[in-house]
Formats: sequence, C-alpha cells, structure tokens
Amino acid sequence: MTWLTRSFAATVLAAVAASGAQLDATNFKLTESAYNSVIEKLDAILPIVNVSSVLADVNHVAPTQTVSATNFLRGYTWEDVSGYDDVNTDKWYPQGITTSADALDTGIYESKKVILIDWYDNTGLGKGVRVSFIDRTASGNAHYRNALLVEPYTDSSGNPNFKSVQVHGGGLMWYGNLLYLVDTNNGIRVFDLDHIYKVSIGDNIGRQSATDYEAFNYAYVVPQCRNYKASAVSPAMRWSFISLDRTTTPDSIVVGEYAADTTVPAPRFLRFSIDYTNRLLTTTSGVATATWAYEVDILRMQGATSINGKFYISRSNGATTRGDLVTWVPGNAAVIHSALAPGCEDVSYNHNADELWTLSEHPGSRNFYAVKASAF
Ligand SMILES: *[C@@H]1O[C@H](CO)[C@@H](O)[C@H](O)[C@H]1NC(C)=O
Repeated sequence: MTWLTRSFAATVLAAVAASGAQLDATNFKLTESAYNSVIEKLDAILPIVNVSSVLADVNHVAPTQTVSATNFLRGYTWEDVSGYDDVNTDKWYPQGITTSADALDTGIYESKKVILIDWYDNTGLGKGVRVSFIDRTASGNAHYRNALLVEPYTDSSGNPNFKSVQVHGGGLMWYGNLLYLVDTNNGIRVFDLDHIYKVSIGDNIGRQSATDYEAFNYAYVVPQCRNYKASAVSPAMRWSFISLDRTTTPDSIVVGEYAADTTVPAPRFLRFSIDYTNRLLTTTSGVATATWAYEVDILRMQGATSINGKFYISRSNGATTRGDLVTWVPGNAAVIHSALAPGCEDVSYNHNADELWTLSEHPGSRNFYAVKASAF
C-alpha cells in the first residue's frame, strides 16, 4: 500500500486525463552526493559477494503462478510453507520491481536472469527495506533470497557501521551495478551491488563488534553508496516510482508521483538522462536536471515506464478490485485497460521478451508477473 492509501477503499474510478500540461523541466533538479566513503572501510572488514553468489545461496522457492491479467505471459508467487510465509505476511509489503534487463541490455547479469523486488517494513520495528533477489534463469519455479538494504555511516565511536533505510521504497530500478530506490520526500537513493556484504545472522542491525555485523537476521546487505537530493519545488515532488527507458537516446529514467485523490496536488512525470558509462544520472556540476516534465490527472498511479514514447502506467483500485494498465502518449487521451490483478504496484519493462513486469502487494494475493506490452 502506498502511504496515502492505507484507508483507501476504491469505489470511485476517476476519469483519466484527456490532456495534461507540459511543465518547465528545468525546475526539477537532483543534486548528486559523493560516493559514501564508509564503504571502503566496510570492504576491509566484511566479505564482499556478487549477485551470482547471493543467487547461489537462495533459500526460498517462488512457485510459478498464472495470474488473472490481460495479455498475461508468465508469473510467480512467493514462498508459503510451514514456518515461512511471504505470501500472507503483513510484516513486509512488496513495492518496487526491476529486472536484469534494466541492469544490462542483454538481460543477463552474471549469467542469470534476475528479478529484484523491494519490500518495506510494516512492523514499526525500523527494519527499513529488504530486496528479494529472484533467480528465474531456469524454466519452472523461481528461487530467491531476501537481503537488507543498509546505509553505511561512521558511528559515534568512529567505527564504520550501517543502519536500515527508512523509506517507503515505492519504486526500484537496476542499472549496471547500481540499484536506484525512490525516497518519497527526498529524491533517489543509490545502492552498489558490487559491494554486497555477507554478515552474521543475528537480531540486531549494524556493528556488534570489530568483525561482527548483523542485519535483522538477513545474511546479505546491499549498501547505499549515494543519494540524489531533490531541489525544492512547489508543490513538493513526491518521488513515488521509477523505471528505466532504454528506447530513448541516451537511456533515461522516468519517475512519477502517486496521488490518492484530487485533494493532493496533481501528479507529475519527470524524465532524467542516465549515463551508461558510469551508471549515474547525467549531471552538470553535480546536478541532474530533468529533460521533460508533465502534469497529468491520473490518480492512484503506482508505477510507470515509457517505451518508444508511450507510457505504461499501473493504477491501483484497492485491495480487491482489478488494477488498471493505463496507456498514454503525451498529447493524446489516455486509454484505460482493466488488465492487472488487484493491488498492482511498480512496473519494469524487459525489452528482450516484450515483458511488462509488475507485482501485487496485498497479503494473501501476492504475485509478480509479466504481461505482453505491445498487445496494449
Ligand atoms: C562471483 O563470485 C564468485 C565467488 O567468489 C566467483 O566464483 C564468480 O566468478 C563471481 N562471478 C562474477 C560474474 O564475477
């Protein structure tokens, strides 16, 4: 669920914009931080593992599942076995999705076809955000392992430490070795998959002794290496979801805003260029400036991407009503397809197989699946 929808009951389906308004993109800026220098210190203490090592150590099964969605291609659900249940738990809610086709044009990362999905902590225990590393290389069931996102910092004793990442995690995007996660009120956080650490199993978070670090019983942590701090705009931008667009030159990211209803400012889309040589946003003097901005009146958007100029937007209608896939070419009327399972969230496009991936967030009806994008 999105922050604003906790008590939302879908009864009214708002009309979709027949038009929107182009905005001055140069008003939307992101300031890039330096690379987090604590990572170098943690490198000297903790074993560094790669993505394929995490996938070689999967401990859960994601069974294949047929999902009632239009132009359905393939899907999976989560592990629900005696003593472990990611399908029905209300302790974590899945939100953002990205795949190895975002990471690399070939769609293959360290010999694997991978899906990453982030979940936010709903327990109030401050666990932050975890990410499922899902291996779907083989046909049939997928296999996965959950890891924790962490933010390295120097603690009050001067030691390298890490803490959990307190964001909602509404959108996730993977580019090369970097993982981009939206931070609703602040912009974007970036995590480095070249510095995944193996840590001790234990209930705590961060440094316990000189060589013992824990992460709420997760065996692997992915450290935040940078952030992109949003400039102040009025009304304030809500960084709700993110996706990669490989059909622009250069590659670009699309970010957008969730709006529960018309009592909040109209949602906007922004586009920023991204640089394949260093996997970072294109900046001038450390500042990335949006190349395109547009305001629309499409409510309850949970994710969006664009493919050759056409937007594919997931729109939720509460926990039990089907979600919509809204297609939209800027300047034209949007088209609503009642195509997705209830509780749809973020989206990600795999151009190698024309797969538009999304997921369902609600306990008891959770899955992640692809529909055929070009059929819409
Ligand atoms: C990942 O790490 C494992 C274990 O160190 C190593 O054998 C493997 O070659 C690495 N894979 C890549 C693609 O770097």
